[in-house]
Amino acid sequence: MPASAAIAMDDLRLSVAPMMDWTDTHCRVFHRILAPHARLYTEMVHANAVTHGDRAKLLALDPVEHPVALQLGGSEPALLAQAARIGALAGFDEINLNCGCPSDRVQAGRFGACLMREPALVADAVGAMIAALADLPRPVPVTVKCRLGLDDDERYEVFAAFIDHVAEAGCRTFVVHARNAWLKGLSPKENRTVPPLRYDWAYRLKRERPRLQVVVNGGIATAEEATAHLQHVDGAMLGRAAYHDPYLLHRLDVAWFGGTLQTRAELLRALRPRVEAWLAQGVALKHVTRHLLGLFNGERGGRAFRQVLSEGAHKPGADWGLVERALAATGAFATVGAASAA
Ligand SMILES: Cc1cc2nc3c(=O)[nH]c(=O)nc-3n(C[C@H](O)[C@H](O)[C@H](O)COP(=O)(O)O)c2cc1C
Repeated sequence: MPASAAIAMDDLRLSVAPMMDWTDTHCRVFHRILAPHARLYTEMVHANAVTHGDRAKLLALDPVEHPVALQLGGSEPALLAQAARIGALAGFDEINLNCGCPSDRVQAGRFGACLMREPALVADAVGAMIAALADLPRPVPVTVKCRLGLDDDERYEVFAAFIDHVAEAGCRTFVVHARNAWLKGLSPKENRTVPPLRYDWAYRLKRERPRLQVVVNGGIATAEEATAHLQHVDGAMLGRAAYHDPYLLHRLDVAWFGGTLQTRAELLRALRPRVEAWLAQGVALKHVTRHLLGLFNGERGGRAFRQVLSEGAHKPGADWGLVERALAATGAFATVGAASAA
């Protein structure tokens, strides 16, 4: 597996979004193989769970994942500070505060996107988190992921004031999911498609505040789109496209950072030692293969690959042999170079 330790900590060009139920440690290890230079994010974990819950499970982290950020949810500065410290000591390279999740559960807990209404509280939280990490032997930045605003409020000044408040507390890096969150009437899923994207606000933020690092997120579906964003901001964060078409991550990593394009089959086989180690630890194959289903997305044999994995992975005793059978079903052996490097 390529070493990722050499990545400059402030190179934020490529990242994979935090996604609940999706970006667990198995998924992140797979993404790391595909994109040695990408910054990876955990699923959101509530600060309370970090401080009181099963840390071994919640903060599970494989050494190959670096650089990897722990995303926290919460709104109590002292609790967030404690959780940030625990996360940093567990090895995470960045602590990110979620100010973008619109779910009812999260609203009821007064965190996520509704925090955009409370810039002073977010600034307090970020300040407390930064202070809690100040004496660590390596710098662990505290970053924020937010939306453009809430509901039908489309005032750029309100968005910029939020950012300025939080930046004054010491946050230098903002991941901007470039649409509003509508707190009433939309499900979290609809909140990722219905409110219109306005990338120009993220671009303007970077233009007007060049000392901040701005990463744009939301609706980036192709390598061309991702590359175009880099003209305006420090980075592009991909969520659903990276998950459903993970080979896109590989193509972007090679295009932006150099290296040789590997075939899908080669990349998949690079995961084998990790999968076998997980199986030996008692992890069921299905917990890994669910993240692999999109590898041949849009390719000849992609459907067969998916089908073999989906049908076989939950069966008792399923092992790496199933992954090889799925690979064989794509016909990738014969056409590996031609079919996969396109
Ligand atoms: C299944 C799923 C789970 C998500 N969970 C989180 C989360 O835990 N924290 C967060 O900040 N955003 C979460 N998001 C939002 C993504 O991080 C991202 O902002 C959003 O999907 C837009 O980017 P995309 O269009 O590239 O997918 C989630 C998105 C999806 C699809």
